[in-house]
Amino acid sequence: MDDAALAAARQRLQGAGAVCVFTGAGMSAESGIPTFRDALTGLWSRFDPAALASEEGFRADPQLVWDWYAERRAGVRRAQPNAGHLAIAAFARARPGRVTVVTQNVDDLHQRAGCTDAIRLHGDILQDRWLDACAQRPACDPAQADAGRPPRCGRCGNRVRPGVVWFGELLPPGAMEAAEAAARQCELMLVVGTSGAVWPAAGLVHTARRAGAFVAIVNPHPSEIDDQAHAVLRGPAARVLPELLHHS
Ligand code: OAD
Repeated sequence: MDDAALAAARQRLQGAGAVCVFTGAGMSAESGIPTFRDALTGLWSRFDPAALASEEGFRADPQLVWDWYAERRAGVRRAQPNAGHLAIAAFARARPGRVTVVTQNVDDLHQRAGCTDAIRLHGDILQDRWLDACAQRPACDPAQADAGRPPRCGRCGNRVRPGVVWFGELLPPGAMEAAEAAARQCELMLVVGTSGAVWPAAGLVHTARRAGAFVAIVNPHPSEIDDQAHAVLRGPAARVLPELLHHS
């Protein structure tokens, strides 16, 4: 890792008021959750996102998609927060009200590490929701659906789907607005483990940079947003974040 970049990022962190931490799949890689776009290990190098991460794909083969998510859910439940998640949570605890964590991850590892108010741009893989809007009043509860794959509503046959954002879908209401406000207002944005390939999420880094924030990136590999960074820390999150944050 570049010592000058580490020193610059530490110094900026020490002086920063508001800090926004923006994370992607690389954040959880060392917890054993695969990323999407890493060449050999990424999910999208082995699976077709159109078939597995879109409403059309789910409607075409609900059982295939449900079973794929069931396996990923089991992986998330088995995983534990890594030293990077814990370092971010400790850093935020020491600066109440000054650190906003925004994640693209659908796992709950930031939350389990202690960042319970992390903004989740792409939903929550452990949540169930209805595929179609429920027309009943009061609305039926997806937790009451039968045990099928996927479960169905006993009243109307509506199917349960995972509570993640699929390609072509809107982000959860309010999440992007809150994330944009954090990006505009922060003095430092710490970007961890994202390829920067997915929009509108990747736009947050540009927003922070345009608004005058110092941008530091933690990633062992080049990403599409490296040109936005003042400091690039080349290394894995679970090693770099404790080094960076424990001394800041
Ligand atoms: P990607 O898979 O696109 O990128 C993962 C990034 O993590 C890459 O830049 C890797 O170099 C980096 N990386 C790998 N191991 C790392 C480590 N140990 N420490 C730090 N970085 C590491 O994942 P995202 O950028 O999160 O969408 O992808 C964005 C969205 O695309 C995801 O949220 C998902 C996907 O389709 C939804 O789920 C809606």
